Amino acid sequence: MSNAKLILDGAEYELPVTEGSEGERAVDVSALRKQTAAITLDYGYANTGSCTSAITFIDGEEGILRYRGYPIEQVAGNADFTEVCFLLIYGHAPSKEELARFQAQLTSHTLLHEDMKKFFEGYPPTAHPMAILSSMVSSLSAYYPEGQGDEDVDLNIVRLLAKTPTIAAFSHKKTMGQPFIYPRNDLSYCANFLHMMFAVPSEPYEVPDVLAKALNMLLILHADHEQNCSTSTVRMVGSSQANLFASIGAGINALWGPLHGGANQRVIEMLERIRQDGGDVAKYVRMAKDRDSGFRLMGFGHRVYKNFDPRARILKRSADDVLDALGVDDPLLDIAKQLEEVALEDEFFVERKLYPNVDFYSGIIYRAMGIPTQMFTVMFALGRLPGWIAQWKEMRQDPRTRINRPRQIYIGETEREWVGIDKR
Ligand code: CMC
Repeated sequence: MSNAKLILDGAEYELPVTEGSEGERAVDVSALRKQTAAITLDYGYANTGSCTSAITFIDGEEGILRYRGYPIEQVAGNADFTEVCFLLIYGHAPSKEELARFQAQLTSHTLLHEDMKKFFEGYPPTAHPMAILSSMVSSLSAYYPEGQGDEDVDLNIVRLLAKTPTIAAFSHKKTMGQPFIYPRNDLSYCANFLHMMFAVPSEPYEVPDVLAKALNMLLILHADHEQNCSTSTVRMVGSSQANLFASIGAGINALWGPLHGGANQRVIEMLERIRQDGGDVAKYVRMAKDRDSGFRLMGFGHRVYKNFDPRARILKRSADDVLDALGVDDPLLDIAKQLEEVALEDEFFVERKLYPNVDFYSGIIYRAMGIPTQMFTVMFALGRLPGWIAQWKEMRQDPRTRINRPRQIYIGETEREWVGIDKR
């Protein structure tokens, strides 16, 4: 292991350098404050590694994403989402027997406790489904308290993966004013979710294969993305030894923001606005470059990718295929393509290495599938579940985990005398 040298106030300090399996390097500052009384300051944690992890590898410069070493292109093109859940959470691709057991477990835990249905009655029909999802997932801890052993944790992991699609579909039914559709054990993970979303008791509904396949791919593409805002939130909350449901509930809330998973909803709203405004994409590119406009191209840019987001590349291709297969002709897809073309040739975007991200094309596919815009971030959350769970589990099992507690540099008033209210 090599060392880095820090010179502070004339004194020299040696800091160990850690190297990952793909050659990424980090200066380990764990002992910095003890040795020097100084801390690091890193707004937005853009240069800060909070952990070592064996789950997901991203090379943002090259546009590479791998789950447990497997390239995203191979996983998205070949795997079932439940296989990816197993892979991320347990560290290896499941054998046939392991997968069959895992899928059977997922299937047998899809029902919600009947009392939980009453929660839905309390929400207004206008409630955003992310508000319902995050509180319902946190509420699962009231029904399934944390056990002590690994087996109890694994059972809660299965419950979370199995029940979250049911919660998500029920929140959609609540908005629609339609009766809840119960899970069906004869359907696959994705087909079951779509059935709960789109079936009504008054007529038969068969899940179109093309929809189940598209959903499978979309969920896989969202399954993990290392230490992003929501995943770091899950680890942050979990570092206090909060239970699985509480930690993931917090992650869902972090995902909701428009700079993170909420961007997929904002992309469609932006494309719709451009369409209604006559389709002048150049005007919106101009606005995005003008800081005073307060407008950003949603679905563009990424903290880590300084190249094409590999997930966006796959989604762009799939958008054409899925829309063709469904016989949908969406003018927003043309606007999205034009916007991408104009932006990618513009110096502002080229200089800052701003490319379309995962949220740019996913919404167009969800829309073609009949999923309402408000549900898009919920769909992201369903996909990200195995990643959050895997990261939470890895954090719990790492003996170096300590409660996450960053420091600060105080810039407020120095000590002063309290002045009574009559003298202020
Ligand atoms: N439109 C216009 N300008 C942009 C955009 C954009 N979408 N994204 C970044 N910039 C500019 C930004 O103004 C800044 O310019 P300057 O250097 O002149 O000040 C420069 O590019 C760097 O941007 P930043 O905000 O410092 O970058 P960041 O790493 O802090 O933020 C981001 C990353 C994803 C929040 C940001 O690119 C953004 O707001 N994008 C739009 C929202 C979005 O699509 N979010 C989804 C992210 S991918 C899915 C997920 O994992 O959540």
